[in-house]
Amino acid sequence: MSRTFKLGVLAAAVMAIAPAAQAFEAGDFIVRAGAVHVAPDDSSDVLTVGGAEALGSDARVGVDANSQLGIRATYMFTSNLGVGLLAATPFKHNITGEGDISSLGKVAETKHLPPTLTLQYFPMHSTAALQPYVGVGVNYTTFFEEKTSGALEGLDIELDDSVGVAAEIGLDYMLSEQFGLNAAIWWADIDTEAEVETLDTFDVEIDPMVYMVGFTYKF
Ligand code: NI
Repeated sequence: MSRTFKLGVLAAAVMAIAPAAQAFEAGDFIVRAGAVHVAPDDSSDVLTVGGAEALGSDARVGVDANSQLGIRATYMFTSNLGVGLLAATPFKHNITGEGDISSLGKVAETKHLPPTLTLQYFPMHSTAALQPYVGVGVNYTTFFEEKTSGALEGLDIELDDSVGVAAEIGLDYMLSEQFGLNAAIWWADIDTEAEVETLDTFDVEIDPMVYMVGFTYKF
């Protein structure tokens, strides 16, 4: 057998046993799309009027969960390090009475966008089909179209934007050179100051866990 032929056989054998996917390398641009679920671990200050606990000593508000379509992109600047950006269609959350005012139910709603920028570390070799990663970075959340309803209907409400730490873990499983599956979980420190007409300004912690499952496409 010629040397070229032997090398050809060897190469074919290696390709047969190696995973089909050639995963992440410097310069790759990876896009992931799927469903994103935001589950707040929420708490708020006690609501007061002129410094008095006029609605009860345990009158608080909560923020419910919401799911939207999310898109995330990673740019790999080495085969192990990338910078990731999370974007999504606007989330819409109901704000409800809690504690002494839980019987009020929904008292307001808000939309928000939580763009999140993270530095991501992919520990596996670039040829691995299975690519777990961890990331840490910053979340910026902007609230908009806040409005009151129910018992607070007609009162002005405004929620301040939030800047805080975000952390994530995720996993890409590449089924081919370009295409794969993704699952990821984040935690983000999202706190806002709420101004509701007639009430004193109060803090609301949202600090959600964010879950996403979807598809991965590598350019
Ligand atoms: Ni917080």
